[in-house]
Amino acid sequence: MPAIVLIGAQWGDEGKGKATDLLGSRVDYVVKFNGGNNAGHTVVVGDEKYALHLLPSGILSPGVTPVIANGVVVDVEVLFEEIDALSERGVDVSRLKVSLNAHVITAYHRTLDKVTERFLGKRQIGTTGRGIGPAYADKINRVGIRVQDLFDENILRQKVEGALDQKNHMLVKVYNRRAIEAEEIVTELLGYAERLRPMVTDTALLLHQALDAGKTVLFEGGQATMLDVDHGTYPFVTSSNATSGGAVTGSGIAPNRIDRVIGVVKAYTTRVGSGPFPTELFDESGEYLRANGVEFGTTTGRPRRCGWYDAPIARYTARINGVTDFVLTKLDVLTGLAEIPVCVAYSVDGVRVEDVPVSQSDFHHAVPIYENFPGWTEDITDVRTFEELPHAAQNYVLALESMSGSRVSAIGVGPDREAIVVRHDLID
Ligand code: GDP
Ligand code: IMO
Ligand code: MG
Repeated sequence: MPAIVLIGAQWGDEGKGKATDLLGSRVDYVVKFNGGNNAGHTVVVGDEKYALHLLPSGILSPGVTPVIANGVVVDVEVLFEEIDALSERGVDVSRLKVSLNAHVITAYHRTLDKVTERFLGKRQIGTTGRGIGPAYADKINRVGIRVQDLFDENILRQKVEGALDQKNHMLVKVYNRRAIEAEEIVTELLGYAERLRPMVTDTALLLHQALDAGKTVLFEGGQATMLDVDHGTYPFVTSSNATSGGAVTGSGIAPNRIDRVIGVVKAYTTRVGSGPFPTELFDESGEYLRANGVEFGTTTGRPRRCGWYDAPIARYTARINGVTDFVLTKLDVLTGLAEIPVCVAYSVDGVRVEDVPVSQSDFHHAVPIYENFPGWTEDITDVRTFEELPHAAQNYVLALESMSGSRVSAIGVGPDREAIVVRHDLID
């Protein structure tokens, strides 16, 4: 039985939450393997709208065991707030499992995220300010605090003191902020331990046993390929591996167990925060996409930068992740446009290139080469089969499929749970 990885194909907010929710009723486990509460997934179920950050979107499906795996950075206060908010709305969160090896975001990570961004000035990344980067930096620097440390007061105190030693010098002398008391942090983190205890486990072993027992496991990526710390538009990226490889290291499941990789891709492109974005629009077309697609961040409320579909990025994503199926979302947002431009290649300093350039400066200079496709005017939100779509919409999907490196297996035609056209089953 399958292990399925689902990842973002662009710069995030492709509709991964909705795609996960779609599969939720047919999977046994949904695993978050990277990132933290920088993610924001909106899932619409009937009249109810849920905004999820730290918890995997699969939590909304009854019967699913949600797992926060080792690759995630956990802000425990946010975790409890999300659990409480969902419980109040009748969602069963009792099966949630959290890895003992996941790293913890503390107050000093949040503070550092904000002050370092301010310090960067014009060069700032536009982070979500949730402490994600500093928490991963501590992990790599081997001064991080892990979930398991919350259950050993002596070790926790030693580690927090060690981590703050150098940081307080930085905070006071470089950033002109007050020093953070180790004891305040230790007391706060110890205060979480009892509530956390029933949730924590060796999630790598749990998932291994689940797959051995024939269970279906869905690995839900946060962020996206172009925000991946290795394969994205570095340094304008997040601090984790949001690509399918991240599902392996971030959960402890071996690569040869993965059967399927689903790439979620919007029918156009958006980006939040700074960094290169070749197809970005600064005219009324961009406004049209933002207004029609309600392109405002789920986490920070920032307006998303909007642009046309970028086929070289889709091909890149297909290659880096081994995408077997694309879920193409938000096709309905394009309804009403007379013509829809698609970036088919770039011109870099006058030379046509088909692939995403590896050099940062080349990518900054990449000018999209567009091909125009005819639009449609019919409302498609109630369409449930490919054949019912207007011909122009069918042609648009087929054109993207032919240039994006993998088949398009499902098409989003509205925010609702049911607003989807399935062409190929995503699980069997
Ligand atoms: P995620 O971070 O990848 O889960 O995506 P977000 O939830 O941040 O952003 C996607 C937004 O698009 C959400 O508000 C979804 O409700 C909405 N959405 C998802 N699929 C579709 C679709 O096919 N059509 C429309 N109109 N909205 C969609
Ligand atoms: P989902 O899972 C879109 C962006 C931030 C910033 C950069 C680094 O909803 O698709 P960070 O706080 O991670 O250090 O910020 O990454 N970013 C996202 N953009 N969707 C997300 O998540 C994002 N998570 C981080 O805007 O540019
Ligand atoms: Mg999002």
